Amino acid sequence: MRGAKILGTGRALPPRVVTNADLMKRMDTTEEWIVQRTGIRERRFVDPGTGTADLGAEAARAAVARAGIPLSGIDFLVFATLSPDYFFPGAGVFVQEKLGLPTIGALDVRTQCTGFLYGLSVAEAYVKGGFYNHVLVIGSEVQSTGLDMSTAGRDLSVLFGDGAGAVVVGPAGPGEGILSSHLHAEGKYAKELMCEGPSSIEHPRLSHEMLSAGRHWPRMNGRYVFTHAVRRFPEVIREALAANGKSIADLSIVIPHQANLRITQAVAGALNVSGEKVYSNIERYGNTTAASIPIALDECVEQGKIREGDLVCLAAFGSGFTWAATLIRW
Ligand code: ACO
Repeated sequence: MRGAKILGTGRALPPRVVTNADLMKRMDTTEEWIVQRTGIRERRFVDPGTGTADLGAEAARAAVARAGIPLSGIDFLVFATLSPDYFFPGAGVFVQEKLGLPTIGALDVRTQCTGFLYGLSVAEAYVKGGFYNHVLVIGSEVQSTGLDMSTAGRDLSVLFGDGAGAVVVGPAGPGEGILSSHLHAEGKYAKELMCEGPSSIEHPRLSHEMLSAGRHWPRMNGRYVFTHAVRRFPEVIREALAANGKSIADLSIVIPHQANLRITQAVAGALNVSGEKVYSNIERYGNTTAASIPIALDECVEQGKIREGDLVCLAAFGSGFTWAATLIRW
């Protein structure tokens, strides 16, 4: 079977920088609380009118240009987000339209923080299996319009930011590029990190009662998420390495989903690797959910932190709960 590799990466960050001091004007919080507990100093928020598909399309254009193929060479796209422009249809078709792509398939993935890795595994399988030659995988989020910016929502609203990242996956020689993907989920914890409304269990899906109870804002059991994340990240990274007969010492870099600096540091500790081997940019962007790994990957490529032949591990944990890892020979 042929291989599949990442041919190009791209990212799109809205220009508006929102610092912790800016948030302090809107809610009862402090720079110290946010930095100590999360490592976040600033994040980007879109201006009104910019949606998840807009950011996704911008990141996708950059990835296609880096891949050195024309847009017309893309024959399938996968779009991962928890913040689609609309309840339906999914955001993938809007990106297809914005990029002027012909009638190629557009698949939306809804696994939140692991969405990009689930999407990448779809691209990997399609390319390895010969279904498609060039698959665009996009992770994009506009979180800022879905956060309670009052003090009542401060535990979650300080964490998240907007942004998008994308890659183009194309054919490679056998055993080159993406070595394997490892995907997991445990739905019994779905309600520990969720956004309840709008909900098709209710009629109407969005009601005055829902709004006044704040059930349209995300909610999280933060300690629970933390405990599971620090266990699942190292576990799935070791699983990916073992599946390929590799060890931690073989890894050049780990790019984890940027959930929280303390989680990233705990993962480095559990793997017994130096902090430099585990990439972090959460200080500048906060948690951009499905976008965080492709944004980080694009930065690492641009900064020369990933070179040809390197063994790269991408790993994620988040709402669902879902967790995943992808091992790549770059
Ligand atoms: N500013 C100031 N005070 C705050 C804020 C804030 N933004 N948010 C909460 N507090 C207060 C709380 O009200 C509480 O006050 P109290 O003691 O008077 O009741 C106090 O700070 C401590 O709150 P805790 O929730 O116990 O804080 P904790 O130390 O658990 O840290 C945090 C919270 C940072 C969310 C932590 O649980 C964590 O890191 N969880 C992981 C969750 C995560 O990273 N989620 C990201 C999304 S999921 C993902 O991507 C994997």
